[in-house]
Amino acid sequence: MTDRFHFESSIWVSEEHNRLIEVIDQRFLPFETKIFNLKTVEDAYFAIREMVVRGAPLIGVTAAFGMYLALRNYRGDHPGRCLSEAAGYLNSSRPTAVNLFFATRRLLETFDPGKPHAVNVENIYHEAVRMRQEEIDSCRQIGEHGVPLIEEIFRNNGGRPVEILTHCNAGWLACVEWGTATAPIYLAHQKGIPLHVWVDETRPRNQGARLTAFELGLKGVPHTVIPDNAGGHLMQHGRVDLVLTGSDRTTLNGDVANKIGTYLKALAAADNGIPFYAALPSSSIDWELEDGVYHIPVEERSPDEVAFIEGWYGKQITAVRLIPEKSPVANYGFDVTPARLVTGLITERGVCRAEKNSLLHLFPEKQNPL
Ligand code: MRU
Repeated sequence: MTDRFHFESSIWVSEEHNRLIEVIDQRFLPFETKIFNLKTVEDAYFAIREMVVRGAPLIGVTAAFGMYLALRNYRGDHPGRCLSEAAGYLNSSRPTAVNLFFATRRLLETFDPGKPHAVNVENIYHEAVRMRQEEIDSCRQIGEHGVPLIEEIFRNNGGRPVEILTHCNAGWLACVEWGTATAPIYLAHQKGIPLHVWVDETRPRNQGARLTAFELGLKGVPHTVIPDNAGGHLMQHGRVDLVLTGSDRTTLNGDVANKIGTYLKALAAADNGIPFYAALPSSSIDWELEDGVYHIPVEERSPDEVAFIEGWYGKQITAVRLIPEKSPVANYGFDVTPARLVTGLITERGVCRAEKNSLLHLFPEKQNPL
């Protein structure tokens, strides 16, 4: 099914011409591999909103290309207004991952009303391409900074494989290449450090079961998919050495928003004395927000994602009803793990404690952002 494709990246500029951006359509993985075309800002909005693409860094990069497509296709006399409207439109696609807002703001700042349209289109295109490359570089650096944590656990655990639990998909599908939580795992695996990953299925959309398991399988990383509620039991029985997740928005004081269910894993990790790290590029840090628990907007998605479950049946993806037709459903997309439960943050500049001074020590240019 998937071996016809050699995956390198989740989003790229078409080899034919740069008016077309291509993404992997993640709604079909791991069962079918389809490419989705982005030709307009509406395509980019749809891709983010409907989770053709997902994961905080990839949402940001897709929005950046969406801004480029908006300007490129514009034929009127008010390109600045066109770009502001595109930013507002894209920003309304999903509320939690801060990368989206970071991307649209950055491209708005790239626009120069004093320059000819063609020059602005060119500059904005290059800025989007630069952002894509920066996410790749950041993930690679996160990997390099995270590997020593895994190495140290391996040195201290008598030679048995390092057991890592992860939630959702924070791999290259969620980013562009490498991934955040998966980058240290891939690099450690490449270095020959024995490890095994417990993959939370991540209801309701099953990003762990469908995407993380798929990614780890492609790279030959030993892993086991578990129901979301198994992590606490495994931790109690000494089967988890490290919890490693991504983040959709981390605030200045170190609170970490990530896929719903992450908080429960952090609680269980704390109760069992297991380190809990979040891996994230600086594009996922909200420098304007201190407290995350009550202030990060948490997306609520369609009840159908909970009421139905999708799988491969016969020759197609099929959804079946899971709950009684009249039962109400709540579908919160994210939760926020308070900084006190976070052992550390792995960023492209290094590992730091989940608190303001440590973050600002790594990113001194962000002093006094409020
Ligand atoms: O709803 P999703 O699939 O976009 O949520 C993604 C996550 O929660 C990831 O863990 C997060 O974006 C970190 S990705 C590097």
